[in-house]
Parts: sequence; structure tokens; C-alpha cells
Amino acid sequence: MKIEVNGVQRDLGDLDPMTPLLWVLRDELQLTGTKYGCGMGQCGACTVHIGGAAMRSCQLPVMAVPGPVTTIEGLSADGSHPVQRAWQDLCVPQCGYCQAGQIMAASALLANEPKPDDAAIETAMAGNLCRCGTYPRIRQAILRAAGGDK
Ligand code: FES
Ligand code: FES
Repeated sequence: MKIEVNGVQRDLGDLDPMTPLLWVLRDELQLTGTKYGCGMGQCGACTVHIGGAAMRSCQLPVMAVPGPVTTIEGLSADGSHPVQRAWQDLCVPQCGYCQAGQIMAASALLANEPKPDDAAIETAMAGNLCRCGTYPRIRQAILRAAGGDK
């Protein structure tokens, strides 16, 4: 079985096709930026892009992955994606555990909607939980990345 991750075709050999994508990324491909939070599709820590859309990877069998995968490692080569820069500028993370998922959700939002209003941000980010309560900074950083807040 093969899968495209961050622009590279990866051969998974005879891996069980029911293996969740998250385990493939973390254990098989050593892409550990994507985090395991709840494992139940409820927290968003495992969010990646699949075909450009934000999707959770913890409950998605690798055989059912519908397109090329981008992880936080593939968002930019050097942390220079506008969302990553805004996150750095505003010191968004606290413990950091949820933040890769937050950034992947935010970057998918802005790719599809470059100037989101509050309601669009709320909708796009509602499934990404942060136990440290960084929500106000996340929202501010999304606006900054969109060029609407300096
Ligand atoms: S680890 Fe996937 S949604 Fe929580
Ligand atoms: S920064 Fe700690 S869970 Fe979000």
C-alpha cells in the first residue's frame, strides 16, 4: 500500500490497511508533529490536510484516505507559512499539545476562505479543543494571518 504524504509517495508495505492514518504518520513515517489527543474524533489534535481539507486522522483507516496528506511538517519547510508566522508573532501556544491541529485547521480555513469573519472562524475551529484555553489568541492569529489584524 502506498500513500502520498507531504508531496512524497510512501510505501507502507503490508501494513494492515485498517491502521488509522494517525498511527501511520506517527509510528510508520515518524511524523510526530501530529498529536494523539482523544483518539475518538473529538478533540482535533490529530488534524491534517487531506486533499487540502482539514480532517482528523485518528479514526480514519489508511485504506480510506481520500487524497494526498499534508501534515504540520509539510505545511512549510521552515515555519514560514503565514499561519505559523502569526502563531509565533502572537505567542499562541501554551502547553502546545493541541497547536499542530489548530494550525492545520486554521490554514485549511484560510486556504478556502482568505478573509473569514468571526462566524467562519468559529465554525472552522469549533472542533479543535484547547485545554489551555488559548482560543482568544488563536482567533487573533487567524485574523492576523488573514491580514485583518496587525
Ligand atoms: S486525537 Fe483525533 S480527534 Fe482527538
Ligand atoms: S495549548 Fe495546551 S492544549 Fe492547547
